[in-house]
Amino acid sequence: MIRRNHVIFTLIASAALVCSENSTMANLKVLVSSKDFPESGLKILREHFTVLQTQHLNFGEEGKTQNYEELLKLIPGCTALVWLSHHPITNELLDKAGPNLKMVATVSAGYNHCNVDELKARGIKLSNTPDVLSAAVAELAVSLMLGAARRFTENLEQVRSGKWEIGFDVVLGQEIRGSTVGIIGFGGIGQAVAKRLSGFDVNKFLYTGHREKPEAKALGAEFVSLDNLLAQSDFILLAVPLTNETKLMINQTTLGKMKQNAILINVGRGDLVDQDALYEALKNKKIYAAGLDVTTPEPLPKDHKLLSLPNVFILPHIGSATVRTRSDMGVLAARNVVQALSGKPLITPVLP
Ligand code: DGY
Repeated sequence: MIRRNHVIFTLIASAALVCSENSTMANLKVLVSSKDFPESGLKILREHFTVLQTQHLNFGEEGKTQNYEELLKLIPGCTALVWLSHHPITNELLDKAGPNLKMVATVSAGYNHCNVDELKARGIKLSNTPDVLSAAVAELAVSLMLGAARRFTENLEQVRSGKWEIGFDVVLGQEIRGSTVGIIGFGGIGQAVAKRLSGFDVNKFLYTGHREKPEAKALGAEFVSLDNLLAQSDFILLAVPLTNETKLMINQTTLGKMKQNAILINVGRGDLVDQDALYEALKNKKIYAAGLDVTTPEPLPKDHKLLSLPNVFILPHIGSATVRTRSDMGVLAARNVVQALSGKPLITPVLP
């Protein structure tokens, strides 16, 4: 009898503990930084926490002005911040948050905008959303390769203006078939591109980075130095994060090492490339073309000199912009917040 009472007491006590932990969690405030965070992620956050969300977009001018003002008002006392945008997370915002802030979840793979050193110094955890977006970004990289190689910019212009160049050898492009594809940064996205190109009869895949990757063997990719990759490749894909080391890695010198028929593809960040040097290389036909999903700045002003060139194919940073991937990114960010605030390891940590 005594034993039975003890069991019942233990069960009631643990249920009470769970309830009180849950209600403590429910009181934690999580701030979502933009009005367009996916419902899939919001649902998870609302099941656990008190969710605050701005009524504006954290993108473009609205993100820099009205939304930022709103964030400054909402953030005091918040325990976690879900960050949508490439706008920087400022010290001012972190100061306003105060000591309660324990976690930032950026809804992006890249985290160059996250003020990482400052978060680290303040003991704030940081997660990102890699992997879930690799397929979508890789599909876009292949689109850019085709778009740049088959001269979509010039060809679309012909259709829009109604002035088609008719003939057998006009606006001829290049093929992926038989080419050497060089991938700078053979992480999730770089590898996903190689996988997707497996049906294109690529002659050779090269990659470069800090170290050889075990996955490369199965993908038939050869590890080479950056110089070797630049000298051999017909397509050069940038799929590296933006860091002090990679900033402006494509510049007059590295462009000068590329083949004249080289096509540069960038799905990383605009600042990987010295755009003035790229403009000169494209204009003077030192390389064949470029396909860019990322530029500096974003948006690129419509009178920017790069847009005057026929051999550049530019998209407005849409690498991960599919319904499925954006939803998956929202879920992963939300799950990281749940993990962090319940004292469990982050799923995709930047600062664990
Ligand atoms: C990323 O996740 O870093 C992509 O650039 C999309 O934001």
